[in-house]
This record gives sequence, C-alpha cells and structure tokens, in this order.
Amino acid sequence: MTGNGSDIMIRVRVNGSEFAGMVAPEMLLVHFLRERLGLIGTNIGCETSYCGACTVLADGRAVKSCTMFAVQADGSGVLTIEGIDTEGSLHPVAAAFLASRALQCGYCTPGMIMSALALLTESPSPTRDEIRRAIEGNLCRCTGYQNIVDAVERAAAVQCGEAPPALDAGDAIPGGGREFRGR
Ligand code: FES
Ligand code: FES
Repeated sequence: MTGNGSDIMIRVRVNGSEFAGMVAPEMLLVHFLRERLGLIGTNIGCETSYCGACTVLADGRAVKSCTMFAVQADGSGVLTIEGIDTEGSLHPVAAAFLASRALQCGYCTPGMIMSALALLTESPSPTRDEIRRAIEGNLCRCTGYQNIVDAVERAAAVQCGEAPPALDAGDAIPGGGREFRGR
C-alpha cells in the first residue's frame, strides 16, 4: 500500500492465495511478484521481453511477467515456480529437469519450467520440435538446450504414464561430474 493517489486496486490469485491491494499502474507483474509478494523464484533477466527468465502462467498461459503490468493481472490466476509443487513433492516437470541435468546455473530454469508446464497442459505428448518451439522464447546461456528438451520429453512421458527415456552416463563434464542424457 503506497498511498499514492494514482494507485489501482487489484485482486489476483497467486499460487492459490488471494491478494487484494493497491498497486502503482506502472508496476510490472514481475516486480509485483518479487517485491510485493516476495516470490523471488521468478527471475529477471533482460526486462525487455527477450530472455523468458520471468515467465509465469497467467490463467494457464505462459507470459513474460516483465511484459505485463500488475494491473493487467487483475482478476487472474497467476502461477509461479513457487506454486507448482504439491504437498512438498517436487513437481514432475522439475524432477525431470533434475534427472536430465537440464540446468547448470539455473537462472533460466524457473521460466523454462513454466513454459514447459504450459506446453504439457496444452499438448501432453509433444514432439521434440514442438518442445523446441514452446521454449524458443526462453534463453539459456549454459546448457545448449539439448538436456532441456530431454527433460520436457521425460516429463511428458511421466505425465502420460509411459516409461521415461532411460538415463545413462554420457560425456564427462568439467569438474569430474558426469552428464546424463535421455535417449
Ligand atoms: Fe522478462 Fe527477460 S526478464 S523476458
Ligand atoms: Fe544457466 Fe540456463 S542453466 S542460463
């Protein structure tokens, strides 16, 4: 509550909890989530709609929250990375990212997972090309994307009750670890 006369009343359901309060008309949704609600899992990269680090779901649709004003979310249901797990269990899409080693620094990961969630809701069994298209607005500077596509494919298989692609030891990675690749 800023007390500024131009502030606007909004009501938003975020991760299942209702928020009702005044926000500045120019406040971006990503800043609202991070600064007002403390949901800092939604990252800020470019703030120019380019990188996808800030992706959340608004009424089930993947949106870049730096391209939306908080007031535009009035009346919507917003889901952020903090809201995807259920009863303390890692969400299957997040688990697939871990299993497939689909992250390194992890900065892009919340946005990638939210884009993957939107895709898998719309298309439960996507092709690899469909996966690539769904995440084309999410940039990753670390992974080369291959393992991310593997992860989404793996999550789709789990979601459909199919056996996920086998993981096996792949190339050694710097630091002595092993990189695992889905087949
Ligand atoms: Fe929103 Fe980069 S921070 S697209
Ligand atoms: Fe570093 Fe994607 S894991 S940007």
